[in-house]
Amino acid sequence: MNEAFPPVTEKFPVLVTGGAGYIGSHAVLALLDQGWPVAVLDNLVTGFDWAVPEAATLVVGDIADADLVARTLAEHKIGAIMHFAGSVVVPESVENPLKYYDNNTVRSRALIAAAVAAGVPHFIFSSTAATYGIPEVVPVAEDMPKRPINPYGWSKLMTEQMLADATAAHPFNACILRYFNVAGADPQGRAGQSTAGATHLIKVAAEAATGKRGHVAIFGSDFDTPDGTGVRDYIHVSDLAAAHVAALEKLIAEPERNHVMNCGYGRGFSVLEVLDAVDRITNVTIERRLEPRRAGDPPSLVADNSRILATLPWRPQRAELDTIVADALAWERRLADR
Ligand code: UD1
Repeated sequence: MNEAFPPVTEKFPVLVTGGAGYIGSHAVLALLDQGWPVAVLDNLVTGFDWAVPEAATLVVGDIADADLVARTLAEHKIGAIMHFAGSVVVPESVENPLKYYDNNTVRSRALIAAAVAAGVPHFIFSSTAATYGIPEVVPVAEDMPKRPINPYGWSKLMTEQMLADATAAHPFNACILRYFNVAGADPQGRAGQSTAGATHLIKVAAEAATGKRGHVAIFGSDFDTPDGTGVRDYIHVSDLAAAHVAALEKLIAEPERNHVMNCGYGRGFSVLEVLDAVDRITNVTIERRLEPRRAGDPPSLVADNSRILATLPWRPQRAELDTIVADALAWERRLADR
């Protein structure tokens, strides 16, 4: 089934919102590598203009600026939108929920409305495993209950619902990709996670390994997991970017109006396993400090990825933990040299 759809012959311009950010910039590279013309729309609040390759056009502005979005869609003859722009820090969403509902929900609504009004038929949305909350069953599949435990997860789930309803009402196709824990960097060193003050484990560990911070905190060692630390399904950002291109081609070949797919590898690693991988690769032991659990952290979050494997011709290329960590470390060293 998954090899069935024909190659796309006519490649139209794709608008990538948040294309100057971490995951978006990797999607831009994946699209360009496959011959898709790309326009990036980014307000550069957390993204970097230097992260946008010269082959893509950068439009600096906000997804909620209806005039700008309408003009951009028309001028660049956009045929599909990949929507990455948004806010992604879970603890911040607890402290400042309305920022998250604004950036991830309200502004997404404006973008979806612009796409529907302009007749852009294909929309790919960055969603998250945080929509599941604390799953009763792991690995977690798409149809299992969605009970977010933080405003970040809710802000994304609400946008999922808007997309589902919009696809039912309009000639509009959407693919919702629920990411598990995204990590690593472009293997060719063209892009990586550059945000200052990062909170994500592999980024934090890479910073510690390159001397940018003194230690790594382990948030909780008393979870009901094999070694007591939190278990996550870490997916390489380049594999995730490739999944977006495959999802776009699927929407074009077989518009089914609304797809929802987990993006993960279906296996988990604990915090200690991640830190051991960093130590192994660098030959240096990072200092670890045991700290209390972080509010709202589920013990274990691993994807059931059978749907994406059955639906798309996508196959993981860089799933080894050591590969993910090595690519993250290589990018961290490049950033240190900048
Ligand atoms: C969270 C969301 C995820 C979302 C991502 C985006 C949940 C359950 N998951 O990932 O859906 O896409 O944010 O921002 O809300 N850890 C440490 N020390 C650190 C950092 C992390 O021990 O310094 C631990 C955490 O407790 C957790 C694991 O490492 O067990 C991964 O944490 P992190 O990288 O922050 O991602 P999530 O919170 O899992």
